Amino acid sequence: MRILSGIQPSGKLHIGNYFGMMKPALELQHEGDAYLFIANYHALTTVTDGELLRGATLDVALDFLACGLDPAKTVFFRQSDVPEVTELTWLLATVTPMGLLERCHSYKDKLAKGIPASHALFSYPVLMAADILAVQSDVVPVGRDQKQHVEVTRDIAIKFNQRFGEIFTIPEPSIRDHVAVVPGIDGQKMSKSYDNHIELFGSPKATKKRVMQIVTDSTPLEDPKNPESCNVFALYRLFATDAEQIQMAEQYRAGGFGYGHAKKSLLEVMERELGPARARREELAQDLDYVNDVLRDGGLKARAAARETLDRARAATGLL
Ligand code: ADP
Ligand code: TRP
Repeated sequence: MRILSGIQPSGKLHIGNYFGMMKPALELQHEGDAYLFIANYHALTTVTDGELLRGATLDVALDFLACGLDPAKTVFFRQSDVPEVTELTWLLATVTPMGLLERCHSYKDKLAKGIPASHALFSYPVLMAADILAVQSDVVPVGRDQKQHVEVTRDIAIKFNQRFGEIFTIPEPSIRDHVAVVPGIDGQKMSKSYDNHIELFGSPKATKKRVMQIVTDSTPLEDPKNPESCNVFALYRLFATDAEQIQMAEQYRAGGFGYGHAKKSLLEVMERELGPARARREELAQDLDYVNDVLRDGGLKARAAARETLDRARAATGLL
């Protein structure tokens, strides 16, 4: 089974990215032939400063390696090291109906956020389809908001195969339902564009500040509280063991347990999970040659796979 996922280097990763995408992708590296890449071509649709893009690309690489990406198990690469995907994008664009792209929520959401409507922003899902189809991926682990793009990829692949013969594997999205949407500090979906996120590897001081800003209701400390409607508990349960979750839910319901107590416990379980990775990240940041070597090697492997697919697609379409 071949597994591929990608993430845009468009800012510091947050715990929504961690639970929605990173953890599932890292777990799948033990279940198949895994490919993971940093989608810097995609990021160009929103990041317009070269230095920022370079820095964010390195940050994402450090984050994944610190969180347990094993380069012996996962082909880890920069999208731009596989320029074959841009040519494949063109071939796929010729079978992509306009209506398919016009229906994409993410394009409309981005316009609503004030991102200028460029051709690249609109055809973003076709490049994503090329990423997936170039390596003949069977499974694509993503957060729920990306599911539609994987469905678009399937439609494009089916159309291409019908027209030109069986070139592409039809991929399946893999979505973790119980962590489908991680809430931000205001209870809406956590997203860097809503500025309601908690950075994955923010400094302890910044993390504490963010956690203290999590919005809660004004139930007095001594009163019973409902864990199910509380943003602090929603985040706590992602990091806590089952027994810890049951215990905290009981404390909420019993009363005498304030949101300040819950936030303190949240900080503890977060540090337990992320502290060791933060230390590894600091070590890796001292050895950037290693990080660059990993990405370069991964790029060569991904490129070989993409080349093979592209040659078949070129031959089928009559270009070769
Ligand atoms: P952002 O909304 O912060 O810009 P992205 O859209 O770049 O994040 O998302 C990168 C990956 O992380 C995608 O696979 C996406 O589905 C996942 N993801 C982002 N935010 C969340 C969230 N709040 N809950 C679950 N998954 C998320
Ligand atoms: N669009 C994805 C996101 O914003 C990133 C991405 C690009 C991707 N190409 C991909 C994810 C291919 C999975 C497979 O999160």
